Amino acid sequence: MKSPSAIWIFAAFFLLIACNVPLKRDGSGHYKQGAVVSAHPLTSQVGLEILQKGGNAYDAAIAMQFALAVVSPRAGNIGGGGFMLSYHAAEQKVEALDFREQAPLAAHRDMFLDSQGNLLTNASLKGHLAAGVPGSVMGMHEIHKRYGSMTWEELIDPAIKLAGKGFLLTAFEAAQFNRFLDDFVTHSTVFPAFMRNLKKGQLIAGDSLYMTDLAKTLQRIALYGAKDFYEGETAGLIVAEMERGGGIITREDLKAYRAVWREAVHFDYQGAVVYTMPLPSAGGVALPQFFYAASQVNWDSIPHHSAMHLHLVTEWSRRIYADRASYLGDSDFADVPLEMLLSETYLQERFAGIDIKRATLSSDIKQAAESTIESMETTHFTTADRWGNVVAVTTTVNGFFGNKVMVGDAGFFLNNEMDDFAAQPGKDNQFGLIGSEANRIEAQKRMLSSMSPTIVLKDNVFWFTLGTPGGSTIITNVFQTTLNVLAYGMRMQDAVDSKKIHAQWLPDELIYEFSAIDSLIGDELIQMGHLLQPVGQLGRMNAIMKWPDGYEAAADNKREGDCTAMGF
Ligand code: DON
Repeated sequence: MKSPSAIWIFAAFFLLIACNVPLKRDGSGHYKQGAVVSAHPLTSQVGLEILQKGGNAYDAAIAMQFALAVVSPRAGNIGGGGFMLSYHAAEQKVEALDFREQAPLAAHRDMFLDSQGNLLTNASLKGHLAAGVPGSVMGMHEIHKRYGSMTWEELIDPAIKLAGKGFLLTAFEAAQFNRFLDDFVTHSTVFPAFMRNLKKGQLIAGDSLYMTDLAKTLQRIALYGAKDFYEGETAGLIVAEMERGGGIITREDLKAYRAVWREAVHFDYQGAVVYTMPLPSAGGVALPQFFYAASQVNWDSIPHHSAMHLHLVTEWSRRIYADRASYLGDSDFADVPLEMLLSETYLQERFAGIDIKRATLSSDIKQAAESTIESMETTHFTTADRWGNVVAVTTTVNGFFGNKVMVGDAGFFLNNEMDDFAAQPGKDNQFGLIGSEANRIEAQKRMLSSMSPTIVLKDNVFWFTLGTPGGSTIITNVFQTTLNVLAYGMRMQDAVDSKKIHAQWLPDELIYEFSAIDSLIGDELIQMGHLLQPVGQLGRMNAIMKWPDGYEAAADNKREGDCTAMGF
């Protein structure tokens, strides 16, 4: 492997040190002028520099999305999609942008079934058919058109430099690459250029990676805008890749792709107003349902992580995820009974059956139709500027490195978001999620998501924002972290660090991070009938909270990964 120039070694060394060390903070540890939090130190550095140059939070977010596509392609992307939630300070308004992938025009409901109607499991996960039409570049274009203050070229330039001049791999990213190197060769039709120089066939921390094809792609996008990706040379490379690999995304699909501004879902809880992403994010239905249930409880009498706290969260989750499976899908296509699902009458009845002493069997929970679950590679980043604007983005290629196909001569991976559809009602996807007719595949439909970037206001002013990867566990994680602040009065970092649990109706189990449940409480939960299942980690939450003297930037650096908070 070629060795990087001295300046890049120095830059990377500096960043590794800066990883968990704030740059300039006053005594409170809060940043007065701006903050960034992301899942990679180089990306946070890119965002910070944009803010320091006078860019706003939108500018920083665009630069971070492109930088993540280079330094963390397991989740960062230009070949995937995502959701953005933002707080625009001048108008005290929260906005939501949907740049989720959509099914290609040639996609159809049975495309992942064989002639006997059996599910072809891997087809929606690996290879060309797994890809939805990517939305990220159009998403960034839309944000820039509405709120960008720096030029588009200036915002992509840091990513071009990282890709072209090389960057040093962190241990975490190296390990993720190594897991899938064979898959990249199997599923890509052109041998990925970045792998040509691998000495021992494996990557280690400190290796420098050069993504020269990606640098060229980014240069074209910088020069010709989103048009290059959707109609120009990059579009041509995507379509050629599809033709070589038996995929179905066409020029027409790319040309027709639009990012959509949607009205953010919002609801009141304890004097605060919580905003989150509407459908096709399931969070826009599940979070108001969770907080309705939470509003019926006097939290002063329920200690944090007591058996009662965890029992209630689990029981609510079962019912809420059963609703997700039964009713939710892209509401531009499916008739989702939103009014019913969020009505007080329905929710009262839905939660009335909870026994405070006993776990309900998931099989006893009514499911309206057949139901589907979601995976583990996504990333969340957030940034806040000196004018009070805040941007929160959750973006993904779905599985690690998406469908494992690196677009020939273009240097980026495509997503495997088609797996988020219910390929066959009643059969689960990679996250164990089940789905109904509402989430069946249709041309140009968006697959149901769990990604839930969230912003909370108090007195119409930004208070805190949060989001995480984690597939189906995103919603329960966002709920618990938000509840940690609103009901348990935690500061942001503590709410992020606090261990989490998860339940999702099926499978019928209560998943928990190792120290989330102490052994006595565990015994109590088992007595109540819960089936406990420990996991190493749930999500990788990144968050920012506003205090009178500045921003608290809370990176999830207690969990495995490279989450990094910076500010000035
Ligand atoms: O949109 C969704 O819900 C999934 N595609 C997200 C995947 C995910 O979070 C994987 N990562 N941790």
